[in-house]
Amino acid sequence: MTAARWVVPAEERTVADTAEALFRSTFGGAADGVWAAPGRVNLIGEHVDYAGGLVLPFALPYVTVVAVRVRDDGILHAVSTHTGESWRGALADVAPGHPSGWAAYVAGVAWALRRSGLLTAGTGFEVAVHSTVPVGSGLSSSAALECAFALAVADLAGLPTDESGRRPLIDASIRAENEIAGASTGGMDQSVAMLARPGHALLLDCRDGASRHVPLDFRSAGARLVVVDTNAPHRLVDGQYGNRRAAVEKACADLGVATLRDVADADAAVAALSSPAAQRARHVLGEIGRVREVADLLDRGRIADLGDALNRSHASLRDDYEVSSVELDSAVDAAVEAGAWGARMTGGGFGGSAIALVPLDRVDAVTENIVRRAESASLPTPQFLSAEPSGSAHRL
Ligand code: GLA
Repeated sequence: MTAARWVVPAEERTVADTAEALFRSTFGGAADGVWAAPGRVNLIGEHVDYAGGLVLPFALPYVTVVAVRVRDDGILHAVSTHTGESWRGALADVAPGHPSGWAAYVAGVAWALRRSGLLTAGTGFEVAVHSTVPVGSGLSSSAALECAFALAVADLAGLPTDESGRRPLIDASIRAENEIAGASTGGMDQSVAMLARPGHALLLDCRDGASRHVPLDFRSAGARLVVVDTNAPHRLVDGQYGNRRAAVEKACADLGVATLRDVADADAAVAALSSPAAQRARHVLGEIGRVREVADLLDRGRIADLGDALNRSHASLRDDYEVSSVELDSAVDAAVEAGAWGARMTGGGFGGSAIALVPLDRVDAVTENIVRRAESASLPTPQFLSAEPSGSAHRL
């Protein structure tokens, strides 16, 4: 059997050195500055951000770093260590689908900031990107890139970057993802990348944008939150995410409410819908309740009691929302079997990552059981990441 493989977070300075070296070798000379933004996991509140729900994500100690220099000709030239590819083009020509791939996240942010009047037409950028957020693992590598670059642009333009100054940057990052990259995601990932605080989860109300930092200290509870990257191969799932969003919108129209959050009587609402809208709505309404339950337990310092809500969240995502996968179910079942207090898929689903809340003396048993079960079912071998609640986007 393969031993559990841990992806240890690199020192941020080391990540920055790599981005700056790429900058120098591509563009010559030094960048104007270097900015970092984190990946995230969601503790609970899945597939509810676009339904006006409550979410409880926190930032990971894995970051995307951008080294950026301003130019005065409206051209964006971006290069990344991830693919080795670069993209060069006029910001005036950025439009839905152009550019595609990772460059859409950078160009899309500049496009959105121009549209909102925060970036002048003549301004362009040279950008070098290096990231330790695993790509395609459901840990929001795209939001990390958008937010690192948005903060860079704001700093270089002398815009405020305090919490309220970050709101338009979050909006620009969401627009980049929705309108230029064409992924109809909600705003959870960009919000936590911009607002997270070390040692805390972010309780975010996606109906009005209000947020609160909730203390989250796994170690003091004698536990560890383990992130399981299933390494599941990419699937054609874009349509599935959009399909769930559309189902939620249809349920709202049928019920005559603006968002599912506005439903007063959950049981009556579910009873009024037909299948599968009823199951989708039951997930969303139940999940919002579970976020309240978990936030309340955290407020009372009861981390050891979170497990049951995590398990119920996973069952609901698997059975009612149907966004889990055989790899995620395997990881979650194996974690609980080996002594995790609770486990669930995290992020959009259909592959990607799960989280498990594990007492410290069971961490090895849990990770080994997850690997053993995956290998015996001929699934990809998962890898494990550390989940210390970390800070938001910042300048180095
Ligand atoms: C992805 C999206 C988020 C959110 C989650 C599911 O991560 O980017 O906006 O919808 O899926 O909770």
